[in-house]
Amino acid sequence: MQLIDGKKISTEIKNELRIQIEGLKRQGKNVPGLAAILVGDNPASQIYVSSKSKSCQEIGMRSIVEKLSADISQNELISIIKKYNEDENFHGILVQLPLPKHIDENKIIESISPEKDVDGFHPVSVGNLVIGKDTFVSCTPAGIQELLKRYNIETQGKHVVVVGRSNIVGKPIANLLLQKNKFANSVVTVCHSAASDLSVFTRQADILIAAIGKAEMIKADMVKDGVVVIDVGINRIEDSTNSKGYKIVGDVAFEEVSKKSSFITPVPGGVGPMTIAMLLSNTFKAYKLYGGQFE
Ligand code: GUN
Repeated sequence: MQLIDGKKISTEIKNELRIQIEGLKRQGKNVPGLAAILVGDNPASQIYVSSKSKSCQEIGMRSIVEKLSADISQNELISIIKKYNEDENFHGILVQLPLPKHIDENKIIESISPEKDVDGFHPVSVGNLVIGKDTFVSCTPAGIQELLKRYNIETQGKHVVVVGRSNIVGKPIANLLLQKNKFANSVVTVCHSAASDLSVFTRQADILIAAIGKAEMIKADMVKDGVVVIDVGINRIEDSTNSKGYKIVGDVAFEEVSKKSSFITPVPGGVGPMTIAMLLSNTFKAYKLYGGQFE
């Protein structure tokens, strides 16, 4: 069994970006910028956004965080997004999800310019992904594909089984690995909570992608020998041996499943750090494509 070290790969990607940004600065050029919009005080969202902003600063990218009150109206939020759509210093816009219930998430996502949609959530980006055009791919799926690439894991003709059908992970990773290109071309099955017996599907996986949101749900008897396991889950479970009283685990029972797998991502330190690295990479891509100062 080989561990897939997302922390190490994400550091490599951030270093690659940092070097390019230092080069831009030396030439006196504008640098890429990311505007992050956080609505309300969801503790997990606060942690995610501050870690995204910190990563921007580490690599020399411009970063701003707009912290908005939970009772902001949908129209006010849309006008803030439109302001950043027009701002040449910010090449990427990210609205942290989930949003408060009175706000229609789809309307908000659609108000982001597709040229700045570094989360890859806009229907234009999603549509481009489905038809195989180069586009902004949402960050967690892009990070998973990057891990498979950098560990030289063959995807062509392999049976990828995705558990979970969210718009953020399940649907886009299925579409990404379905594309007819070198780092994809897989046979993809997507299964979800309506399956009466998930293990019928998961046992067939050459590459299993677990994006369910249930702690340690994938057990050893649900996978075959030699499987590649990508665990997208981030779940808190009680742990009295830990001073915090809890620990973070994935959707996969790591101890038992790792014994049967050829490659596996740990939680934490697997897919999680890659999400931020790909956000930075998408922001750099937006800068190169639409920033007007890159050659
Ligand atoms: N909420 C959970 N994951 C994400 C993400 O990747 N981007 C945004 N904007 N919100 C999220």
